[in-house]
Amino acid sequence: MRPITLSALLLVGASLTAGDTAKNLPKFEGGDLQKYWMDACARCHGANGNGRDNNGAQLPDNGFDFTDSRKANKKKDSDWIKITLDGKDKMPSFKDKMTQADVEKMMPILRKFSAK
Ligand code: HEC
Repeated sequence: MRPITLSALLLVGASLTAGDTAKNLPKFEGGDLQKYWMDACARCHGANGNGRDNNGAQLPDNGFDFTDSRKANKKKDSDWIKITLDGKDKMPSFKDKMTQADVEKMMPILRKFSAK
């Protein structure tokens, strides 16, 4: 557990600017996908999926507002799974970080952001 705790501290300490956000993305090693969202996705998409940091400021590489249900409802899980695995523009590929099965299990977490 020790190295994970250390890298988590380093992440909190580092302030992320555009271009840095895709660096040092952790590999999903099993366990809590909600936690993995915080470790690997929230730096760009925000803890709440709205692309904003805790102070409400727009994150540099946010890309998509998962809390916008009108937009989110137009998206298919199959598209989101593909984009997460393959990447798209500034969205990094997670193919070497997560299995397809884990990405599929991530979908309910993404959907929850727009569920009111
Ligand atoms: C380095 C920043 C960054 C990280 C880290 C990141 N994303 Fe993204 N993501 C983006 C950007 C930017 C886009 C928009 C891509 C585009 O359409 O040009 C995006 C788009 C997406 C989309 C497609 C949304 C849509 O319908 O247009 C999904 C799904 C997604 N991300 C899921 C995730 C998940 C799950 C993680 C963590 C495992 C993650 N992202 C981590 C930047 C990031």
